[in-house]
Amino acid sequence: MGTNEKNLTGVERFFDDDEIIVSKTDLKGRITYANNIFLKLADFTEKDVLGQPHSIVRNPTMPRAVFKLLWDTVQTGKELFAYVVNRSKNGDHYWVIAHVTPSFDASGNITGYHSNRRVPDRRILDDTIIPLYTSLLREEQKYDNAKDGLAASHAMLFNLLKEKGVAYDEFVFSL
Ligand SMILES: Cc1cc2nc3c(=O)[nH]c(=O)nc-3n(C[C@H](O)[C@H](O)[C@H](O)COP(=O)(O)O)c2cc1C
Repeated sequence: MGTNEKNLTGVERFFDDDEIIVSKTDLKGRITYANNIFLKLADFTEKDVLGQPHSIVRNPTMPRAVFKLLWDTVQTGKELFAYVVNRSKNGDHYWVIAHVTPSFDASGNITGYHSNRRVPDRRILDDTIIPLYTSLLREEQKYDNAKDGLAASHAMLFNLLKEKGVAYDEFVFSL
C-alpha cells in the first residue's frame, strides 16, 4: 500500500488504440500472466511481476474505494468496467479503461481473474474521472485510519451514484 506520491514523476505514458494491456491473477490477486504491452507500459519484466500482487502497479493517487468496488464485484462473479491510473516502475503513470472479469471452471467456481485494458477517452478522464477520483482520494485522506477513510469515500461514491439513479456500470457507460 503506502501513499508514496513523492515517487511519482508526473510523466504520463501512452499506448496505442489497437493495443490491449492484459493480465490474469489468481484468487488473491497475484499476477499469473501479463502480456508484453503490460510489461512495456509498467516497465517490468515478466519475472518481476509473476507471482506478485497486482498492487505492484498501484498508483497512490487511485482512491481505494474503486478497488473495493472492483473486488466486491468480481468476487461475486460479476464483471466490471473501471477507469484506473497505474504506476510504472519508475513512477510514470498511465490511464486505462479496464474490463475485469472472473474466470470460472466447468462447475462454475471462480478460478481467478482476468483484465483487459484499453486506451480511455481523454475527455471522460478530464471532465469526470479525474475530478471524481481527486474528491474520493481527498475524502480518504481526511482520516488517520485507512479503514474509516475507505468507508467515507465508498459512501461518497455510492451517494453520487444514488443521486444519478444509476449503478456503477451504467455510470461508466453514460460518460
Ligand atoms: C484481474 C485484476 C486486475 C487488476 N488490475 C489492477 C491494476 O491494473 N492496477 C491496480 O492498481 N490494481 C489492480 N487490481 C487490484 C489490485 O488487486 C489491488 O486491489 C489494488 O492495486 C489496491 O491495492 P491495495 O489493496 O494493496 O491498496 C486488479 C485486480 C484484479 C483481480
